[in-house]
Amino acid sequence: MVYLTRIEHFNAAHKLYNKSWSDEENKKVFGKCANENWHGHNYELHVTIKGTPHPETGFIYNAKTLGDLIKEVIVEKVDHRNLNLDVDFMKDKFTSAENFAMGIWDQLKPHIEKSDVQLHCVRLVETQKIYVEYYG
Ligand code: NI
Repeated sequence: MVYLTRIEHFNAAHKLYNKSWSDEENKKVFGKCANENWHGHNYELHVTIKGTPHPETGFIYNAKTLGDLIKEVIVEKVDHRNLNLDVDFMKDKFTSAENFAMGIWDQLKPHIEKSDVQLHCVRLVETQKIYVEYYG
């Protein structure tokens, strides 16, 4: 089994806010992500798939095709958008990196597993110091 990772970038705004808490408590827990008028992140998305190299190409999957797929299914929907308001698959969810990575997984999986590779990991880098990984 060989693992292949494709990296794509996008920028998006969001807000993390629990309506049943006070403003003070939201600020304490969510920090800058609770900013009333939104704020943004420069996200980096690492999508790892796994499979066996094809005898005719030596590839498990065409890396450019994978990039195009990520752009079409995810980046087009989220880049320069508001994750809380504009992104259908994040509706009514906390737009944490954890939930966002899980949402991205659910969007990508049916497209990737049409071919004979499997989705292995979605890594979402939110800041230089924080990333999450989801393995399904
Ligand atoms: Ni944030």
